[in-house]
Order: sequence, then structure tokens, then C-alpha cells
Amino acid sequence: MSTTITVFRGDGIGPEILDVTLEILEAAGADLACEIFDVGAAEYEAHGALVPDAAYASFEKTHVLLKTPITTPVGKGFRSLNVMLRKKYDLYANIRPAKSNPAVKTRYQDIDIVTFRENTEDLYAGVEEMISEDEAHSIKIITRKCSERIIRAAFAYAVAQGRKKVTCVHKANIMKLSDGMFRDIFYELAKEYPQVEATDMIVDNTAMQLVMNPNQFDVIVTENLYGDILSDLTSGLIGGLGLLPSSNLGDDYAMFEAVHGSAPDIAGKGIANPTAFLWSACMMLEHIGKQDAASRIRRAVDAVLADGSVKTPDLGGQASTREYVDAILAKL
Ligand code: NAI
Ligand code: MG
Repeated sequence: MSTTITVFRGDGIGPEILDVTLEILEAAGADLACEIFDVGAAEYEAHGALVPDAAYASFEKTHVLLKTPITTPVGKGFRSLNVMLRKKYDLYANIRPAKSNPAVKTRYQDIDIVTFRENTEDLYAGVEEMISEDEAHSIKIITRKCSERIIRAAFAYAVAQGRKKVTCVHKANIMKLSDGMFRDIFYELAKEYPQVEATDMIVDNTAMQLVMNPNQFDVIVTENLYGDILSDLTSGLIGGLGLLPSSNLGDDYAMFEAVHGSAPDIAGKGIANPTAFLWSACMMLEHIGKQDAASRIRRAVDAVLADGSVKTPDLGGQASTREYVDAILAKL
């Protein structure tokens, strides 16, 4: 049965990875009706709105959004559209699975870490104020409600997936009230999931442990900022941002995107690795009940990576996006 989804075509490498992903989805028999909209910085310059009203209306109808990255100006200009979307649609659980692929050689083996990042508050709430010309305040907001629901999501996932351990990452030694509450709630809720080991770690140590001994981690649950930083780190363990997908789930809406940004340094060169985005699309297919199409795509990608002769430059190869995608299409 055909399913209607909303698609946002963003900036930089966004259009490059989107067009080929839609080709692969079609070839895999995903049977999607896509309502596609241009969004982001380029759209803003052309038409004065980051997201056209019709694009919001589409998402509010389909409740499923596949989205490529958007360029956000640094230190000035409009606020991050990604942060805005996550808040507007209450997409509170940002799930980022970093799994080693046996065909991609890195210094690490058998990495399988899923980060659950709180997606709606913390320093990303955007509560910033100039106190004087020389003093700026940025307020960190942590609430019981948002902490509980991300921690519950992490434990529920661990149970459903038969995972053994959830690690709560925080800085409660310094931020005793905000991070202290997050950690307390973690251990309160952990009692409801006795089959899963619950443990906690301070964020700076976690950064070191992830590099020195990453195989000790299973599921990580953490606040917004730490999750943003540590999940990029986990991508580095498995071969880089070209391989890390994500879902952003709320109770009513779901958004799927790669963890990476618009990669302006390689945009337009035809060498972007579409795998992270393609795997995000697979997470979307699984979310809407199209497991078969997702498995076909995952098998085709694995076969191309295992074959090894067609790899994009970020993975040490020389293939263009097009050549890599053609190899996947051939396997399909
Ligand atoms: P980035 O993730 O775009 O790039 C970091 C590095 O990884 C670059 O060297 C890039 O070439 C490489 N890279 C990223 N994705 C790749 C891929 N698919 N294939 C091959 N190489 C890849 O991070 P950066 O440069 O810090 O941010 C660029 C812009 O993206 C900024 O405006 C930022 O705000 C935005 N951004 C948007 C996100 C989103 O829309 N969800 C997420 C992260 C950043
Ligand atoms: Mg990030």
C-alpha cells in the first residue's frame, strides 16, 4: 500500500543525497508518495521563508518527515530550523545508532552504541540574553517531564531490543540541580526495568571512555548538548558522519535525517556519501511498517560496502555519489 510522506530538500549536499535516495527507495519497492519541498537557507534567500507554509501543512497531514540537512548561520541570523522543528512538533527522542560495518575498517570493532539524546530543552532552548555589552547569559533548562520521557524511551528501547545496559551521561558533579535531577530521575525509573543494567558516567570521562574502550557502551541516554557532541564522536568510531543515521520521534510526529550537516566543503562536488541519509530513510521505512523495503536496501548497501571496490572518498575510496548509488541499484 502506498504511504504518503513529507520530504524536505535542504542545503549543501542535501539535494544531492536526497535525489539518489528517492531513486533507491523507489527501486526497493518502498511504494511512497512523496510531497517534496525546498527548505532552508537557499529557500529563505529565494522566497523569504525557511519553510513554506505548504510544507508544514504537509507534515501535519502525513506525520512523517524525511529531511536533508540545512545550513544554519553561525553566531548570527535565523535560529536553527532543526531545533525549531524538533520543538514545534515535540520530537523529543533523538535516536542515533552507531554500529560498526564489518566492511568499513576503523581502529575499532563491533561498535554498537545507540545514543538517546533529549531533543527539546537544555541549552538548545535558545534562552539567551545580553546582560551588558560584555556579558551574555545562556540558560540551561532541564525539566522532569522531558527528562522522564527520554529516559523511559531509552529503557523501553533497551527492553524491546534485548539490550543489556543503559548509561546515563551527565555533569551532575558541577550542575548539581539540573544534571543532578536528570541523574536522580534516571535511577528512579531504572527500578521499573530490572532486566536492564543501569549505570551513569560523567560526560568528560565518557568522551575519554568512548575513545579508549567504546565496547563497554550499549545504550546511552543524555541531555541535548552532550548527546549532540557525543553522538558525532560515536560516528567517528564507525567511519564518520557519512554513516550515522537518526530518527527524531515524538508521540505524534516522526522526522528522519542524517546526523551530519550540509557539508558545504564538499557540496556540489558529487562526492557526498548518501549512506547515513539512506539508513535514516530505512529507519523511516521501519517506522511506517515497510520492513521489507528497508531490509532490501540495507542488504544492497552492505553488499556494496563488502565488495569494497565502490566507495566514496570519506571512506577512503574514489567513487562519486552517482557511482556508489549505481552500485547499490545494481544489487537491488
Ligand atoms: P557537517 O556535518 O556538515 O560536516 C562535517 C564534516 O563531515 C565535513 O568535512 C563534511 O564534508 C563531512 N561530511 C558530512 N557529511 C558527509 C557525507 N554525507 N559524506 C561525506 N562527508 C561528509 O558539519 P559542519 O561543517 O559543522 O556544518 C555545516 C552546516 O550544517 C552548518 O550550517 C550547520 O549548522 C549545519 N548542520 C545541520 C544539521 C541538520 O540539518 N540536521 C546538522 C549538523 C549541522
Ligand atoms: Mg550535531
